[in-house]
Formats: sequence, C-alpha cells, structure tokens
Amino acid sequence: MAKIVGSIVTSHVPAIGRAIAGNLQNEPYWKPFFDAFPPIHRWLDEVKPDVAVVVYNDHGLNFFLDKMPTFSVGAAPEYRNADEGWGIPTLPPFTGDTELSWHLINQLVNKEFDLTTCQEMLVDHAFTLPLKLLWPQEGACPIKVVPVCINTVQFPIPSASRCYKLGEAIGEAISAWDSDARVVVIGTGGLSHQLDGERAGFINKPFDLQFMQSLVDKPKWATQYTVEQLVEHTGSQGIELLMWLAARATIKGDVRALQNTYHLPISNTAAGVMLLEPLA
Ligand code: DHB
Ligand code: FE
Repeated sequence: MAKIVGSIVTSHVPAIGRAIAGNLQNEPYWKPFFDAFPPIHRWLDEVKPDVAVVVYNDHGLNFFLDKMPTFSVGAAPEYRNADEGWGIPTLPPFTGDTELSWHLINQLVNKEFDLTTCQEMLVDHAFTLPLKLLWPQEGACPIKVVPVCINTVQFPIPSASRCYKLGEAIGEAISAWDSDARVVVIGTGGLSHQLDGERAGFINKPFDLQFMQSLVDKPKWATQYTVEQLVEHTGSQGIELLMWLAARATIKGDVRALQNTYHLPISNTAAGVMLLEPLA
C-alpha cells in the first residue's frame, strides 16, 4: 500500500517567485525564509517521494467568482501554470498522477465529499511556488502531482473541522491505495495576512505560533474556531491556514517537526514553513 512519508506546509506569497527568479535568496530580507529549505531538500533526497498531493487554494486563475467549488481535485495528465498578473515567472507544466487522482476522487466521493473533478486545471502561485521552493532545480518539477483545491477566496468557506475531515479522508485514501508509491502531502497558504480593506497588513504572530505548535501536539486545535473567528484572528487571507490543517490531518497519529520556521513579513504575509514526519 502507498505510504505518506511526511507533510510540508508553507506560505505561498507571489513575491517569493520574484526572489527566486532574481536569485535574492541570500539577501537579508529573504534569507531567514529561504534558510528553511536546504534541510528539507536533504530530507526529500533521503525519503524520495514519488508523488506530491498539493492542498492549496486557487486565487481566481482556474476558478473565478462565477463558479467556485468548495473542494476540487485535479485528474489531469498535466497542469499548466499561467501568468496571473503578479509578474512571477511562469513555470513549465507539472505532470499529473492520474491513477492517484482517480483513486482519491473515488474514495472521497464514497466518503460523502462532493467534489469537483477537474480533468483540465490551471495552477497558480499557490501551487507552483511551493513546488519550486521544494525542487528548485532547472526545468520541470521532478515528481508527479495531484492538486487538491479548497475554496478560501469566496464565502461560504468550508469550516476548519470540515477541512480537517477532508485531510483525514485523503490520508485514509492514500493508505488504501494499492501502490508502493511514497507520497508527500504539501499544504500551502497563510499564515496571518490581510491584503485589502481596513485591516490590510494585519498580522497576528501569537496566533500563528500557537497554530504551528498545535499541528505538532494538538492537531485539531484550530477546529474549535469558525471561519469568521479564524478570519478575525488571522486576516481575510490568513484563512488559507485551512490548507495546513488539511495537510496535517492526512497523517494519522503523532508527528515530529523536522523543520519549523516563522518569519515576517514577506510582502503582507507572515511566512511559515514546517516539515512534519509521522512518528509511527
Ligand atoms: C500575498 C499573499 C498571498 O497568500 C497571496 O496569495 C498573494 C499575495 C502577499 O502577501 O503579497
Ligand atoms: Fe494566497
């Protein structure tokens, strides 16, 4: 059966793409963030995952406000990146793992998650940047991918508790996949940030740090909050932490944090990175 080797969660600020393109990784503004990645690269070299399930949120590239699925799963042989107007470099297409996609879709629908199945899907910075951070080499991403998209851009947004259950169901589906594949689950978004409105620039360090710690020792902690309360605590885009929660929930039981970095700000965002490895 397939195995989840770990989960990596990270912020996905578009400016990171500019920093990569401009080779700014060692500049004082960027270094504390980029320093989180070499240990993760060494871990990836050791555990050698075959496929990444990427839990992220689209920002209006593939889904716009006229049609907004709550949960969607990619089932395409290839995912193209496109220019979203942020000025970050467009990356080569990503290769899909359609066998895992359809397995996940079947299992999740059986468990009463009403998904949108996407046999064509464009992927934005929330998907591409984390993969570029994890596999920075030239050219296409070296492992296969399955995108899982959670709506965090238009209300109603699914609750933390529902996203946790989605993560658990994804974890169970991966463990039930008749394959010897090694799977890494990536969650992208957050941490606290608000890009517009009266509270633009809002960041909540104590809440972010408590949330990060909870992923290690009390993973359901954030499910006590409603979406509105999470927005109040983390900003209107800070709600992207739901992707971290779902990614963590794919791992049954305890984890250890092999990497844990919090750095602010990047652009308007409190940037965090964690690598969580199952203990069992
Ligand atoms: C920023 C953060 C995001 O999560 C995003 O999707 C776009 C922009 C920012 O801080 O600039
Ligand atoms: Fe975002």
